[in-house]
Amino acid sequence: MLLLVTVACLLIVLIIYLTGKYNERYWAKRGVVFYTENRTAGIHWDFMTKDLSMFEVLGRLYKKYSDEPAVGVGLLFRPAILVRDLTNVNYILQTEFESFSDGGMDTPDYDKLTKSVLFMNGKLWKLMRQNMSPLFTATKLKSMFYIMERSSRDYIELLKQPGGLDCDTFDSLAGYACASIAASVFGIGTESVFDSPFLKISRQALEPSFMVNMKFSLLVFLPKIYKALKLKLFGAFEKDFIGAISHVIRERHRDGTKRHDFVDLCVALQKNGTLRDHATNFELEPTDELLAAQAFFYFIAGVEPCATAIFNTMLELGRNPDIVQRVHAEIDANFNKLGDKLTYDSVMEMEYLEKVINESLRLYPPAGFTVRRCVKDATLPVGNIRIEKGTHIFLPLYEIQRDSKYFPDPEVFNPERFDGNITNNAYMPFSKGNRLCIGARFARLQVKTGLAYILRHYTPETTVLGPKIKYKKQPFQVTPVNVEIKLTPRTLKSE
Ligand code: HEM
Ligand SMILES: *[C@@H]1O[C@H](CO)[C@@H](O)[C@H](O)[C@H]1NC(C)=O
Ligand SMILES: *[C@@H]1O[C@H](CO)[C@@H](O)[C@H](O)[C@H]1NC(C)=O
Ligand SMILES: *[C@@H]1O[C@H](CO)[C@@H](O)[C@H](O)[C@H]1NC(C)=O
Ligand SMILES: *[C@@H]1O[C@H](CO)[C@@H](O)[C@H](O)[C@H]1NC(C)=O
Repeated sequence: MLLLVTVACLLIVLIIYLTGKYNERYWAKRGVVFYTENRTAGIHWDFMTKDLSMFEVLGRLYKKYSDEPAVGVGLLFRPAILVRDLTNVNYILQTEFESFSDGGMDTPDYDKLTKSVLFMNGKLWKLMRQNMSPLFTATKLKSMFYIMERSSRDYIELLKQPGGLDCDTFDSLAGYACASIAASVFGIGTESVFDSPFLKISRQALEPSFMVNMKFSLLVFLPKIYKALKLKLFGAFEKDFIGAISHVIRERHRDGTKRHDFVDLCVALQKNGTLRDHATNFELEPTDELLAAQAFFYFIAGVEPCATAIFNTMLELGRNPDIVQRVHAEIDANFNKLGDKLTYDSVMEMEYLEKVINESLRLYPPAGFTVRRCVKDATLPVGNIRIEKGTHIFLPLYEIQRDSKYFPDPEVFNPERFDGNITNNAYMPFSKGNRLCIGARFARLQVKTGLAYILRHYTPETTVLGPKIKYKKQPFQVTPVNVEIKLTPRTLKSE
Protein backbone atom coordinates (compact mmCIF):
# COMPACT_ATOMS: atom_id res chain seq x y z
CA MET A 1 0.00 0.00 0.00
CA LEU A 2 2.71 2.44 1.08
CA LEU A 3 4.72 1.42 -1.92
CA LEU A 4 1.77 2.10 -4.19
CA VAL A 5 1.28 5.58 -2.73
CA THR A 6 4.99 6.34 -3.06
CA VAL A 7 5.03 5.23 -6.67
CA ALA A 8 1.90 7.26 -7.43
CA CYS A 9 3.43 10.36 -5.83
CA LEU A 10 6.67 9.95 -7.71
CA LEU A 11 4.73 9.50 -10.91
CA ILE A 12 2.77 12.70 -10.32
CA VAL A 13 5.96 14.65 -9.57
CA LEU A 14 7.49 13.25 -12.73
CA ILE A 15 4.47 14.23 -14.82
CA ILE A 16 4.47 17.75 -13.36
CA TYR A 17 8.18 18.05 -14.13
CA LEU A 18 7.87 16.73 -17.67
CA THR A 19 4.85 18.87 -18.61
CA GLY A 20 6.70 21.91 -17.28
CA LYS A 21 9.71 21.10 -19.42
CA TYR A 22 7.49 20.47 -22.41
CA ASN A 23 5.78 23.86 -21.99
CA GLU A 24 9.13 25.63 -21.70
CA ARG A 25 10.53 23.96 -24.81
CA TYR A 26 7.29 24.58 -26.69
CA TRP A 27 7.64 28.36 -26.37
CA ALA A 28 11.44 28.36 -26.73
CA LYS A 29 11.03 26.71 -30.16
CA ARG A 30 8.70 29.55 -31.17
CA GLY A 31 11.02 32.27 -29.91
CA VAL A 32 8.73 33.34 -27.06
CA VAL A 33 10.04 34.01 -23.52
CA PHE A 34 8.62 31.65 -20.95
CA TYR A 35 7.47 32.32 -17.38
CA THR A 36 9.65 29.85 -15.49
CA GLU A 37 8.55 30.48 -11.90
CA ASN A 38 6.14 27.64 -12.32
CA ARG A 39 6.48 25.85 -15.61
CA THR A 40 3.52 23.53 -15.17
CA ALA A 41 0.63 25.57 -13.82
CA GLY A 42 2.11 29.04 -14.42
CA ILE A 43 -0.20 31.86 -13.52
CA HIS A 44 -2.86 29.61 -12.00
CA TRP A 45 -0.33 28.41 -9.48
CA ASP A 46 0.40 32.04 -8.57
CA PHE A 47 -3.29 32.79 -8.30
CA MET A 48 -3.88 29.91 -5.93
CA THR A 49 -0.83 30.45 -3.74
CA LYS A 50 -0.42 34.24 -3.64
CA ASP A 51 -2.69 36.94 -2.25
CA LEU A 52 -3.41 38.38 -5.69
CA SER A 53 -6.35 38.73 -8.01
CA MET A 54 -5.94 37.01 -11.38
CA PHE A 55 -5.56 40.33 -13.20
CA GLU A 56 -2.75 41.26 -10.78
CA VAL A 57 -0.95 37.98 -11.50
CA LEU A 58 -1.10 38.85 -15.20
CA GLY A 59 -0.02 42.40 -14.35
CA ARG A 60 3.18 41.18 -12.72
CA LEU A 61 4.10 39.36 -15.92
CA TYR A 62 3.09 42.34 -18.04
CA LYS A 63 5.53 44.55 -16.14
CA LYS A 64 8.28 41.97 -15.73
CA TYR A 65 8.58 41.28 -19.45
CA SER A 66 8.16 44.89 -20.58
CA ASP A 67 10.16 44.46 -23.80
CA GLU A 68 8.44 41.30 -25.01
CA PRO A 69 5.45 41.11 -27.36
CA ALA A 70 4.20 38.02 -25.49
CA VAL A 71 5.02 35.66 -22.63
CA GLY A 72 4.51 31.89 -22.74
CA VAL A 73 2.95 30.35 -19.61
CA GLY A 74 2.17 26.84 -18.46
CA LEU A 75 -1.42 25.61 -18.48
CA LEU A 76 -0.78 21.99 -17.52
CA PHE A 77 -1.02 19.96 -20.71
CA ARG A 78 -1.63 22.88 -23.02
CA PRO A 79 0.50 25.82 -24.05
CA ALA A 80 -0.86 29.25 -23.17
CA ILE A 81 0.30 32.78 -23.80
CA LEU A 82 -0.07 36.27 -22.36
CA VAL A 83 -0.13 38.70 -25.27
CA ARG A 84 1.31 42.12 -24.34
CA ASP A 85 1.84 43.89 -27.63
CA LEU A 86 -1.10 46.08 -28.59
CA THR A 87 -0.92 45.35 -32.32
CA ASN A 88 -1.09 41.65 -31.52
CA VAL A 89 -3.97 42.19 -29.09
CA ASN A 90 -5.97 44.00 -31.75
CA TYR A 91 -5.02 41.34 -34.28
CA ILE A 92 -6.51 38.64 -32.04
CA LEU A 93 -9.66 40.53 -31.07
CA GLN A 94 -10.47 42.12 -34.42
CA THR A 95 -8.31 41.61 -37.52
CA GLU A 96 -8.00 37.83 -37.27
CA PHE A 97 -11.13 37.18 -35.19
CA GLU A 98 -11.98 34.06 -37.24
CA SER A 99 -8.89 32.30 -35.84
CA PHE A 100 -9.53 33.38 -32.25
CA SER A 101 -13.29 33.27 -31.87
CA ASP A 102 -13.60 30.95 -28.87
CA GLY A 103 -13.73 31.94 -25.21
CA GLY A 104 -11.51 29.82 -22.98
CA MET A 105 -13.86 27.06 -21.83
CA ASP A 106 -16.10 24.28 -23.08
CA THR A 107 -18.88 23.78 -20.57
CA PRO A 108 -20.76 20.46 -20.80
CA ASP A 109 -24.31 20.45 -22.20
CA TYR A 110 -25.81 19.11 -18.97
CA ASP A 111 -24.78 22.33 -17.17
CA LYS A 112 -27.81 24.15 -18.55
CA LEU A 113 -27.25 27.66 -17.20
CA THR A 114 -23.84 27.82 -18.88
CA LYS A 115 -25.33 27.37 -22.34
CA SER A 116 -25.33 31.12 -23.07
CA VAL A 117 -23.29 33.41 -25.33
CA LEU A 118 -21.00 33.93 -22.36
CA PHE A 119 -19.62 30.38 -22.56
CA MET A 120 -20.69 29.08 -25.96
CA ASN A 121 -18.21 28.59 -28.78
CA GLY A 122 -18.17 28.00 -32.53
CA LYS A 123 -21.32 28.02 -34.63
CA LEU A 124 -23.52 27.68 -31.55
CA TRP A 125 -22.12 30.91 -30.15
CA LYS A 126 -22.50 32.69 -33.48
CA LEU A 127 -26.16 31.77 -33.86
CA MET A 128 -27.02 32.59 -30.26
CA ARG A 129 -25.18 35.90 -30.37
CA GLN A 130 -26.99 36.86 -33.62
CA ASN A 131 -30.29 36.26 -31.91
CA MET A 132 -29.43 38.13 -28.70
CA SER A 133 -27.94 41.21 -30.36
CA PRO A 134 -31.31 42.82 -31.24
CA LEU A 135 -31.83 43.32 -27.48
CA PHE A 136 -28.99 45.79 -27.30
CA THR A 137 -29.56 48.19 -30.20
CA ALA A 138 -29.95 51.92 -29.50
CA THR A 139 -33.66 51.76 -30.42
CA LYS A 140 -34.24 48.88 -28.06
CA LEU A 141 -32.40 50.62 -25.23
CA LYS A 142 -34.39 53.76 -25.75
CA SER A 143 -37.62 51.81 -25.42
CA MET A 144 -36.46 50.09 -22.24
CA PHE A 145 -35.07 53.26 -20.68
CA TYR A 146 -38.24 53.67 -18.61
CA ILE A 147 -37.21 50.55 -16.67
CA MET A 148 -33.77 51.91 -15.81
CA GLU A 149 -35.16 55.33 -14.92
CA ARG A 150 -37.79 53.84 -12.67
CA SER A 151 -35.27 51.57 -10.92
CA SER A 152 -32.94 54.52 -10.31
CA ARG A 153 -35.72 56.65 -8.84
CA ASP A 154 -36.80 53.82 -6.56
CA TYR A 155 -33.19 53.37 -5.47
CA ILE A 156 -32.98 57.01 -4.35
CA GLU A 157 -36.21 56.52 -2.39
CA LEU A 158 -34.60 53.53 -0.71
CA LEU A 159 -31.50 55.54 0.21
CA LYS A 160 -33.66 58.32 1.63
CA GLN A 161 -35.43 56.01 4.06
CA PRO A 162 -34.21 56.08 7.67
CA GLY A 163 -31.03 53.99 7.78
CA GLY A 164 -30.92 53.87 3.97
CA LEU A 165 -27.28 54.96 3.94
CA ASP A 166 -26.18 52.70 6.75
CA CYS A 167 -25.02 49.75 4.69
CA ASP A 168 -21.85 49.06 2.76
CA THR A 169 -21.88 51.22 -0.39
CA PHE A 170 -20.74 48.47 -2.73
CA ASP A 171 -23.39 46.03 -1.45
CA SER A 172 -26.01 48.70 -1.78
CA LEU A 173 -24.98 49.41 -5.39
CA ALA A 174 -25.00 45.71 -6.21
CA GLY A 175 -28.59 45.65 -4.91
CA TYR A 176 -29.46 48.55 -7.19
CA ALA A 177 -27.77 47.03 -10.26
CA CYS A 178 -29.48 43.72 -9.61
CA ALA A 179 -32.95 45.21 -9.17
CA SER A 180 -32.59 47.22 -12.34
CA ILE A 181 -31.22 44.29 -14.36
CA ALA A 182 -33.90 41.94 -13.03
CA ALA A 183 -36.51 44.47 -14.16
CA SER A 184 -34.92 44.64 -17.63
CA VAL A 185 -35.09 40.85 -17.86
CA PHE A 186 -38.41 39.94 -16.26
CA GLY A 187 -40.26 43.24 -16.61
CA ILE A 188 -40.96 45.81 -13.96
CA GLY A 189 -43.51 45.16 -11.22
CA THR A 190 -45.33 47.63 -9.03
CA GLU A 191 -42.15 48.36 -7.12
CA SER A 192 -38.44 47.66 -7.44
CA VAL A 193 -37.12 44.76 -5.43
CA PHE A 194 -33.72 45.42 -3.90
CA ASP A 195 -33.17 42.23 -1.94
CA SER A 196 -34.42 39.72 -4.51
CA PRO A 197 -33.25 36.11 -4.69
CA PHE A 198 -31.49 37.14 -7.92
CA LEU A 199 -29.08 39.29 -5.97
CA LYS A 200 -27.99 36.23 -4.06
CA ILE A 201 -27.62 34.31 -7.30
CA SER A 202 -25.58 36.95 -9.09
CA ARG A 203 -23.26 37.44 -6.16
CA GLN A 204 -22.91 33.81 -5.12
CA ALA A 205 -22.49 32.31 -8.57
CA LEU A 206 -19.02 33.78 -9.02
CA GLU A 207 -18.12 34.47 -5.39
CA PRO A 208 -14.54 33.22 -5.16
CA SER A 209 -14.62 30.24 -2.83
CA PHE A 210 -12.40 27.21 -2.83
CA MET A 211 -15.11 25.18 -4.60
CA VAL A 212 -15.74 27.75 -7.31
CA ASN A 213 -12.00 28.20 -7.98
CA MET A 214 -11.56 24.44 -8.04
CA LYS A 215 -14.37 23.94 -10.53
CA PHE A 216 -13.08 26.61 -12.89
CA SER A 217 -9.55 25.21 -12.65
CA LEU A 218 -10.72 21.67 -13.41
CA LEU A 219 -12.80 22.92 -16.32
CA VAL A 220 -9.78 24.69 -17.81
CA PHE A 221 -7.08 22.15 -16.92
CA LEU A 222 -8.79 18.77 -16.91
CA PRO A 223 -12.15 19.06 -18.69
CA LYS A 224 -12.47 15.27 -19.02
CA ILE A 225 -12.33 14.80 -15.25
CA TYR A 226 -14.74 17.71 -14.77
CA LYS A 227 -17.23 15.94 -17.03
CA ALA A 228 -16.64 12.52 -15.51
CA LEU A 229 -17.47 13.98 -12.10
CA LYS A 230 -20.62 15.54 -13.58
CA LEU A 231 -19.71 18.92 -12.08
CA LYS A 232 -21.76 22.02 -12.81
CA LEU A 233 -20.84 25.67 -12.42
CA PHE A 234 -24.32 26.89 -11.57
CA GLY A 235 -26.17 23.69 -10.65
CA ALA A 236 -27.48 25.13 -7.39
CA PHE A 237 -29.51 27.80 -9.21
CA GLU A 238 -30.72 25.73 -12.14
CA LYS A 239 -34.13 24.57 -11.04
CA ASP A 240 -35.41 27.84 -9.55
CA PHE A 241 -34.01 30.05 -12.25
CA ILE A 242 -35.34 28.04 -15.19
CA GLY A 243 -38.65 27.74 -13.35
CA ALA A 244 -38.88 31.50 -12.84
CA ILE A 245 -38.19 32.40 -16.45
CA SER A 246 -40.51 29.68 -17.82
CA HIS A 247 -43.29 31.02 -15.67
CA VAL A 248 -42.87 34.62 -16.85
CA ILE A 249 -42.57 33.58 -20.50
CA ARG A 250 -45.82 31.53 -20.28
CA GLU A 251 -47.65 34.48 -18.70
CA ARG A 252 -46.39 36.87 -21.34
CA HIS A 253 -47.43 34.52 -24.17
CA ARG A 254 -50.93 34.72 -22.69
CA ASP A 255 -51.30 38.42 -21.90
CA GLY A 256 -49.30 39.65 -24.91
CA THR A 257 -48.51 43.18 -23.65
CA LYS A 258 -45.30 44.77 -24.96
CA ARG A 259 -42.89 45.74 -22.22
CA HIS A 260 -39.60 46.00 -24.11
CA ASP A 261 -37.78 43.71 -21.71
CA PHE A 262 -35.89 40.45 -22.24
CA VAL A 263 -39.03 38.33 -21.90
CA ASP A 264 -40.54 40.19 -24.86
CA LEU A 265 -37.68 38.93 -27.00
CA CYS A 266 -38.13 35.39 -25.68
CA VAL A 267 -41.78 35.42 -26.70
CA ALA A 268 -40.90 36.79 -30.17
CA LEU A 269 -38.19 34.16 -30.66
CA GLN A 270 -40.48 31.32 -29.60
CA LYS A 271 -43.25 32.54 -31.90
CA ASN A 272 -40.77 32.56 -34.81
CA GLY A 273 -39.68 28.98 -34.09
CA THR A 274 -36.33 27.32 -34.84
CA LEU A 275 -33.32 29.67 -34.91
CA ARG A 276 -31.32 29.22 -38.10
CA ASP A 277 -27.97 30.48 -39.30
CA HIS A 278 -28.51 30.96 -43.02
CA ALA A 279 -24.79 30.82 -43.76
CA THR A 280 -24.29 27.35 -42.24
CA ASN A 281 -27.87 26.04 -41.91
CA PHE A 282 -27.10 25.36 -38.26
CA GLU A 283 -30.27 25.23 -36.16
CA LEU A 284 -31.29 25.65 -32.54
CA GLU A 285 -34.61 25.45 -30.68
CA PRO A 286 -35.46 28.49 -28.52
CA THR A 287 -36.61 26.43 -25.54
CA ASP A 288 -37.33 27.91 -22.10
CA GLU A 289 -34.12 26.30 -20.88
CA LEU A 290 -31.99 27.90 -23.58
CA LEU A 291 -33.59 31.30 -22.98
CA ALA A 292 -33.19 30.93 -19.21
CA ALA A 293 -29.45 30.47 -19.73
CA GLN A 294 -29.38 33.75 -21.71
CA ALA A 295 -31.32 35.51 -18.94
CA PHE A 296 -28.78 34.14 -16.51
CA PHE A 297 -25.90 35.93 -18.25
CA TYR A 298 -27.46 39.28 -17.36
CA PHE A 299 -27.00 38.40 -13.71
CA ILE A 300 -23.56 36.83 -13.73
CA ALA A 301 -21.98 39.07 -16.38
CA GLY A 302 -23.97 42.23 -15.65
CA VAL A 303 -24.67 42.90 -11.99
CA GLU A 304 -21.23 43.04 -10.40
CA PRO A 305 -19.50 44.85 -13.29
CA CYS A 306 -22.18 47.57 -13.34
CA ALA A 307 -22.02 47.98 -9.55
CA THR A 308 -18.23 48.08 -9.77
CA ALA A 309 -18.29 50.71 -12.51
CA ILE A 310 -20.58 52.96 -10.44
CA PHE A 311 -18.55 52.36 -7.28
CA ASN A 312 -15.23 53.15 -8.94
CA THR A 313 -16.55 56.29 -10.59
CA MET A 314 -17.76 57.53 -7.21
CA LEU A 315 -14.43 56.52 -5.71
CA GLU A 316 -12.66 59.02 -7.97
CA LEU A 317 -15.37 61.66 -7.72
CA GLY A 318 -15.20 61.40 -3.93
CA ARG A 319 -11.60 62.59 -3.96
CA ASN A 320 -11.75 65.08 -6.82
CA PRO A 321 -13.99 67.98 -5.66
CA ASP A 322 -13.48 70.06 -8.83
CA ILE A 323 -14.71 67.21 -10.99
CA VAL A 324 -17.73 66.57 -8.77
CA GLN A 325 -18.68 70.21 -9.04
CA ARG A 326 -18.67 70.07 -12.84
CA VAL A 327 -20.64 66.82 -12.84
CA HIS A 328 -23.20 68.25 -10.42
CA ALA A 329 -23.64 71.33 -12.61
CA GLU A 330 -24.26 69.23 -15.73
CA ILE A 331 -26.64 66.86 -13.98
CA ASP A 332 -28.62 69.64 -12.27
CA ALA A 333 -29.07 71.50 -15.55
CA ASN A 334 -30.48 68.32 -17.10
CA PHE A 335 -32.83 67.50 -14.24
CA ASN A 336 -34.10 71.08 -13.96
CA LYS A 337 -34.82 71.27 -17.68
CA LEU A 338 -37.32 68.41 -17.48
CA GLY A 339 -38.96 69.02 -14.11
CA ASP A 340 -36.65 66.88 -11.98
CA LYS A 341 -36.40 63.79 -14.11
CA LEU A 342 -34.39 62.35 -16.96
CA THR A 343 -35.18 60.97 -20.39
CA TYR A 344 -33.11 58.74 -22.63
CA ASP A 345 -32.09 61.74 -24.73
CA SER A 346 -31.15 63.88 -21.75
CA VAL A 347 -28.96 61.07 -20.38
CA MET A 348 -27.25 60.71 -23.75
CA GLU A 349 -26.58 64.45 -23.78
CA MET A 350 -24.53 64.50 -20.58
CA GLU A 351 -21.10 64.57 -22.16
CA TYR A 352 -18.97 65.46 -19.18
CA LEU A 353 -20.46 62.67 -17.06
CA GLU A 354 -19.71 60.29 -19.90
CA LYS A 355 -16.08 61.38 -19.95
CA VAL A 356 -15.90 60.78 -16.22
CA ILE A 357 -17.31 57.28 -16.67
CA ASN A 358 -14.98 56.62 -19.60
CA GLU A 359 -11.99 57.61 -17.52
CA SER A 360 -13.14 55.48 -14.61
CA LEU A 361 -13.53 52.47 -16.93
CA ARG A 362 -9.99 53.11 -18.15
CA LEU A 363 -8.44 53.15 -14.68
CA TYR A 364 -10.62 50.37 -13.31
CA PRO A 365 -11.98 48.14 -16.08
CA PRO A 366 -14.40 45.91 -14.11
CA ALA A 367 -13.12 42.92 -16.11
CA GLY A 368 -9.34 43.09 -15.73
CA PHE A 369 -8.53 40.77 -18.61
CA THR A 370 -10.18 38.52 -21.16
CA VAL A 371 -9.40 35.13 -22.67
CA ARG A 372 -9.49 33.65 -26.15
CA ARG A 373 -8.69 30.21 -27.52
CA CYS A 374 -7.15 29.77 -30.94
CA VAL A 375 -9.41 27.76 -33.30
CA LYS A 376 -7.21 27.90 -36.42
CA ASP A 377 -3.40 28.20 -36.61
CA ALA A 378 -2.33 31.82 -37.08
CA THR A 379 0.75 34.03 -36.78
CA LEU A 380 0.86 37.14 -34.59
CA PRO A 381 2.39 39.97 -36.64
CA VAL A 382 4.67 41.47 -33.97
CA GLY A 383 7.37 38.93 -33.13
CA ASN A 384 6.13 36.60 -35.85
CA ILE A 385 4.70 34.25 -33.23
CA ARG A 386 3.06 31.07 -34.49
CA ILE A 387 -0.08 30.26 -32.47
CA GLU A 388 -1.48 26.75 -32.79
CA LYS A 389 -5.09 25.69 -32.58
CA GLY A 390 -6.05 25.03 -28.96
CA THR A 391 -3.70 27.63 -27.42
CA HIS A 392 -5.22 29.73 -24.64
CA ILE A 393 -4.56 33.45 -24.88
CA PHE A 394 -4.73 35.99 -22.04
CA LEU A 395 -5.34 39.63 -22.93
CA PRO A 396 -4.47 42.08 -20.12
CA LEU A 397 -7.03 44.89 -20.50
CA TYR A 398 -6.25 46.49 -17.12
CA GLU A 399 -2.51 46.73 -17.77
CA ILE A 400 -2.90 48.04 -21.31
CA GLN A 401 -5.18 50.82 -20.10
CA ARG A 402 -2.64 51.78 -17.42
CA ASP A 403 0.42 51.66 -19.69
CA SER A 404 2.16 55.05 -19.98
CA LYS A 405 2.95 54.19 -23.61
CA TYR A 406 -0.72 54.75 -24.42
CA PHE A 407 -1.92 57.05 -21.62
CA PRO A 408 0.51 59.65 -20.21
CA ASP A 409 0.43 59.77 -16.38
CA PRO A 410 -1.70 56.65 -16.45
CA GLU A 411 -2.46 56.62 -12.71
CA VAL A 412 -4.02 60.10 -12.79
CA PHE A 413 -7.80 60.37 -13.03
CA ASN A 414 -8.31 62.87 -15.81
CA PRO A 415 -11.62 62.92 -17.74
CA GLU A 416 -10.13 65.52 -20.09
CA ARG A 417 -8.27 62.69 -21.79
CA PHE A 418 -11.51 62.16 -23.65
CA ASP A 419 -11.76 65.77 -24.87
CA GLY A 420 -10.50 64.91 -28.34
CA ASN A 421 -10.82 61.48 -29.86
CA ILE A 422 -8.60 58.92 -28.20
CA THR A 423 -6.20 58.30 -31.08
CA ASN A 424 -4.61 55.04 -29.99
CA ASN A 425 -6.50 51.77 -29.95
CA ALA A 426 -5.63 50.85 -26.35
CA TYR A 427 -8.97 51.80 -24.78
CA MET A 428 -11.09 48.65 -24.40
CA PRO A 429 -12.99 48.28 -21.10
CA PHE A 430 -15.62 46.19 -22.91
CA SER A 431 -13.02 44.47 -25.09
CA LYS A 432 -13.34 44.70 -28.89
CA GLY A 433 -14.24 42.84 -32.05
CA ASN A 434 -17.09 40.43 -32.71
CA ARG A 435 -16.96 38.97 -29.23
CA LEU A 436 -16.87 42.21 -27.25
CA CYS A 437 -19.25 42.65 -24.32
CA ILE A 438 -22.75 42.19 -25.74
CA GLY A 439 -24.12 44.37 -22.92
CA ALA A 440 -21.74 47.31 -23.42
CA ARG A 441 -24.36 49.88 -24.44
CA PHE A 442 -26.86 48.56 -21.96
CA ALA A 443 -24.24 48.75 -19.20
CA ARG A 444 -23.19 52.28 -20.14
CA LEU A 445 -26.79 53.47 -20.00
CA GLN A 446 -27.44 51.66 -16.74
CA VAL A 447 -24.30 53.04 -15.09
CA LYS A 448 -24.84 56.56 -16.38
CA THR A 449 -28.50 56.71 -15.35
CA GLY A 450 -27.77 55.28 -11.91
CA LEU A 451 -24.90 57.69 -11.34
CA ALA A 452 -26.93 60.67 -12.53
CA TYR A 453 -29.67 59.92 -10.00
CA ILE A 454 -27.28 59.23 -7.15
CA LEU A 455 -25.24 62.38 -7.83
CA ARG A 456 -28.37 64.47 -8.21
CA HIS A 457 -29.07 63.75 -4.56
CA TYR A 458 -25.70 62.99 -2.97
CA THR A 459 -22.06 64.00 -2.85
CA PRO A 460 -19.60 61.13 -2.48
CA GLU A 461 -16.64 61.25 -0.11
CA THR A 462 -13.88 58.69 -0.44
CA THR A 463 -11.58 57.21 2.15
CA VAL A 464 -8.85 54.83 1.06
CA LEU A 465 -7.74 52.77 4.04
CA GLY A 466 -4.01 52.35 3.60
CA PRO A 467 -1.37 53.75 1.27
CA LYS A 468 -2.99 52.46 -1.91
CA ILE A 469 -6.04 50.71 -3.27
CA LYS A 470 -6.14 46.95 -2.73
CA TYR A 471 -8.28 44.58 -4.72
CA LYS A 472 -10.37 41.63 -3.70
CA LYS A 473 -8.84 38.29 -4.68
CA GLN A 474 -11.06 37.22 -7.56
CA PRO A 475 -10.70 35.23 -10.76
CA PHE A 476 -12.17 37.87 -13.09
CA GLN A 477 -13.23 41.14 -11.50
CA VAL A 478 -11.45 44.27 -10.36
CA THR A 479 -13.09 45.29 -7.07
CA PRO A 480 -11.41 47.55 -4.49
CA VAL A 481 -11.66 46.26 -0.91
CA ASN A 482 -10.09 48.97 1.22
CA VAL A 483 -12.18 51.88 -0.01
CA GLU A 484 -15.09 53.50 1.81
CA ILE A 485 -17.49 55.83 0.09
CA LYS A 486 -19.79 57.99 2.16
CA LEU A 487 -22.79 59.70 0.60
CA THR A 488 -23.82 63.13 1.94
CA PRO A 489 -27.27 64.46 0.96
CA ARG A 490 -27.20 67.64 -1.12
CA THR A 491 -29.50 70.61 -0.65
CA LEU A 492 -30.91 71.23 -4.08
CA LYS A 493 -31.29 74.84 -5.16
CA SER A 494 -34.30 74.12 -7.34
CA GLU A 495 -36.33 72.62 -4.51
C1 HEM B 1 -19.72 48.12 -16.88
C2 HEM B 1 -20.19 46.93 -17.05
C3 HEM B 1 -19.57 45.85 -17.90
C4 HEM B 1 -18.27 45.68 -18.31
C5 HEM B 1 -17.06 46.56 -18.00
C6 HEM B 1 -18.24 44.48 -19.12
C7 HEM B 1 -17.09 44.00 -19.74
C8 HEM B 1 -17.04 42.84 -20.48
C9 HEM B 1 -15.84 42.30 -21.07
C10 HEM B 1 -14.44 42.90 -20.98
C11 HEM B 1 -16.19 41.16 -21.71
C12 HEM B 1 -15.25 40.21 -22.46
C13 HEM B 1 -15.38 40.45 -23.92
C14 HEM B 1 -14.34 39.72 -24.70
O1 HEM B 1 -13.86 38.67 -24.28
O2 HEM B 1 -13.98 40.20 -25.79
C15 HEM B 1 -17.61 40.99 -21.55
C16 HEM B 1 -18.34 39.96 -22.10
C17 HEM B 1 -19.69 39.81 -21.94
N1 HEM B 1 -20.54 40.66 -21.26
FE1 HEM B 1 -20.04 42.37 -20.32
N2 HEM B 1 -19.50 43.96 -19.20
C18 HEM B 1 -20.34 44.76 -18.48
C19 HEM B 1 -21.70 44.61 -18.34
C20 HEM B 1 -22.45 43.64 -18.94
C21 HEM B 1 -23.89 43.55 -18.88
C22 HEM B 1 -24.82 44.52 -18.15
C23 HEM B 1 -24.24 42.43 -19.58
C24 HEM B 1 -25.62 41.86 -19.86
C25 HEM B 1 -26.63 42.56 -20.22
C26 HEM B 1 -23.02 41.83 -20.08
C27 HEM B 1 -22.97 40.68 -20.84
C28 HEM B 1 -21.82 40.15 -21.37
C29 HEM B 1 -21.78 38.92 -22.15
C30 HEM B 1 -22.97 38.04 -22.49
C31 HEM B 1 -20.45 38.72 -22.52
C32 HEM B 1 -19.92 37.59 -23.38
C33 HEM B 1 -20.02 37.99 -24.83
C34 HEM B 1 -19.56 36.92 -25.79
O3 HEM B 1 -18.67 36.15 -25.44
O4 HEM B 1 -20.12 36.87 -26.91
N3 HEM B 1 -21.96 42.60 -19.69
N4 HEM B 1 -18.11 42.02 -20.79
C1 LIG C 1 4.85 24.48 -9.42
O1 LIG C 1 3.55 23.96 -9.28
C2 LIG C 1 3.48 22.65 -8.77
C3 LIG C 1 2.05 22.22 -8.79
O2 LIG C 1 1.43 22.61 -9.96
C4 LIG C 1 4.13 22.61 -7.39
O3 LIG C 1 4.09 21.30 -6.91
C5 LIG C 1 5.54 23.13 -7.45
O4 LIG C 1 6.08 23.22 -6.17
C6 LIG C 1 5.58 24.49 -8.10
N1 LIG C 1 6.96 24.89 -8.30
C7 LIG C 1 7.41 26.11 -8.04
C8 LIG C 1 8.85 26.35 -8.35
O5 LIG C 1 6.71 26.99 -7.57
C1 LIG D 1 -39.16 36.78 -36.58
O1 LIG D 1 -39.23 36.55 -37.97
C2 LIG D 1 -39.45 37.74 -38.73
C3 LIG D 1 -39.65 37.32 -40.19
O2 LIG D 1 -38.67 36.41 -40.60
C4 LIG D 1 -38.27 38.66 -38.56
O3 LIG D 1 -38.44 39.86 -39.28
C5 LIG D 1 -38.11 39.00 -37.08
O4 LIG D 1 -36.94 39.78 -36.88
C6 LIG D 1 -38.01 37.73 -36.27
N1 LIG D 1 -38.02 38.08 -34.87
C7 LIG D 1 -37.05 37.76 -34.03
C8 LIG D 1 -37.21 38.21 -32.64
O5 LIG D 1 -36.07 37.11 -34.38
C1 LIG E 1 -16.38 57.27 -24.26
O1 LIG E 1 -15.72 56.15 -24.81
C2 LIG E 1 -16.38 55.56 -25.91
C3 LIG E 1 -15.63 54.31 -26.30
O2 LIG E 1 -14.33 54.58 -26.65
C4 LIG E 1 -16.47 56.56 -27.05
O3 LIG E 1 -17.16 56.01 -28.15
C5 LIG E 1 -17.21 57.81 -26.56
O4 LIG E 1 -17.22 58.78 -27.56
C6 LIG E 1 -16.54 58.35 -25.31
N1 LIG E 1 -17.36 59.44 -24.81
C7 LIG E 1 -16.88 60.64 -24.52
C8 LIG E 1 -17.85 61.68 -24.09
O5 LIG E 1 -15.70 60.90 -24.58
C1 LIG F 1 -13.55 62.70 -33.60
O1 LIG F 1 -13.89 61.79 -34.61
C2 LIG F 1 -15.13 62.05 -35.22
C3 LIG F 1 -15.47 60.88 -36.17
O2 LIG F 1 -14.36 60.12 -36.47
C4 LIG F 1 -15.04 63.38 -35.94
O3 LIG F 1 -16.29 63.67 -36.57
C5 LIG F 1 -14.70 64.48 -34.94
O4 LIG F 1 -14.54 65.71 -35.59
C6 LIG F 1 -13.44 64.14 -34.15
N1 LIG F 1 -13.27 65.09 -33.06
C7 LIG F 1 -12.09 65.61 -32.73
C8 LIG F 1 -12.10 66.58 -31.60
O5 LIG F 1 -11.05 65.32 -33.28
